[in-house]
Amino acid sequence: RSYQYLLVEADGPVGIVRLNRPKVLNALCRALIEELADALGAFDRDPAIRCMVLTGNERAFAAGADIAEMAGKGLAEVTGDDLLGAWQRLWRIRKPVVAAVQGYCLGGGFELAMGCDLIVAGESAQFGQPEIKIGVIPGAGGTQRLTRVAGKYKAMEAVLTGRMIPAREAEAWGLVTKVVPDEQCLPEALRLARTIAGMPPLAVQMAKAAVLQAYETPLGAGLEFERRLFYSLFATEDQKEGMQAFLEKRSPQWKGR
Ligand code: HXC
Repeated sequence: RSYQYLLVEADGPVGIVRLNRPKVLNALCRALIEELADALGAFDRDPAIRCMVLTGNERAFAAGADIAEMAGKGLAEVTGDDLLGAWQRLWRIRKPVVAAVQGYCLGGGFELAMGCDLIVAGESAQFGQPEIKIGVIPGAGGTQRLTRVAGKYKAMEAVLTGRMIPAREAEAWGLVTKVVPDEQCLPEALRLARTIAGMPPLAVQMAKAAVLQAYETPLGAGLEFERRLFYSLFATEDQKEGMQAFLEKRSPQWKGR
C-alpha cells in the first residue's frame, strides 16, 4: 500500500521506513503513527523481512508529536480519542528495528527512537524531551525508558529542563548504539540490519524478547524467562544446523524454523 507520511521499501531482507513529513520536521501526527504501525506491522508479518530500519531525514528524525494537532484539545478529547493509543502497536513489533537518527530527535521522536532496538546516531543528532516547555510531560515512554537507560539524575535533567542532548553526550549516557559521521548514519544502520537479517530468525526474535524482558521483570523472573526461551530454541532446525555447521567448520543455512 502507499502512505501519506512514510516512504517504505524493502532492500532484500531489510524493511526500510522513512518518516516523510519534512515541512514540519516529521512531526508525529496521529495519522503518521497509525501508518507507521501499519508499515512496521506488515514487515513484522512478512517472512521475507528479517530486520527493519526506521529513519527520518538529515534535518530531523522527528521533532515530536504534532503540536498543532494537540494544541486545541482538552482532557475529554485526548482521553476519549485515546490520543496516544496507536503508539501501543509500535511496542509490539517482534523483529528488531534499528533507528537511524540525524538532526532533531525530540519529544515523541525521541520516545519513538527509544522504542527501537538499536540506535545509530549521526553526529548532528540532538535528543531531548522538551515537552515541559509546552506545558506537558513525555507521554510515549520518555519518563520511563530514558530513566531506565540513563538513570534518575540524567533523566530528571532532561525531562525537567527540556535541554537538547547532542549525539556524543547521548552516547555517554548509554542512549545510542553508536555515533557515526552523518553521511554514515543510514549506511551503518543498514549494515547492522543486514547483519541481524543474516542470523537465524527465530533466535533473533527470542533474543529481542529476552532483552526487552529485562525492563519488565525482577532478575530472577527475567533469568527464568531467558532460560525457557533458550530451551525452546532446541526445538528448531536452525539450532541443529547452527551447531552442526560450527562442528563441520562450514557456514550455516538458516531455515527459519
Ligand atoms: C508541529 C512542528 C513541530 C512539532 C516543528 N514543527 N516541530 N510542528 N509539531 N513538534 C514545524 C514548525 O512549526 C515549522 O513550521 C517547521 O516545523 C520548522 O520548524 P522551525 O521551528 O521553523 O525550525 P527551527 O527554527 O530550526 O527549530 C527546530 C526546533 C523547533 C528546535 C526542533 O521546531 C521546535 O522546538 N519544535 C518543537 C519541539 C517540541 O516541543 N517537541 C515536543 C512536542 S510534544 P512552519 O509552518 O512554521 O514552517 C511531544 C509529546 C509527546 O512530542 C507525547 C507522546 C507522543
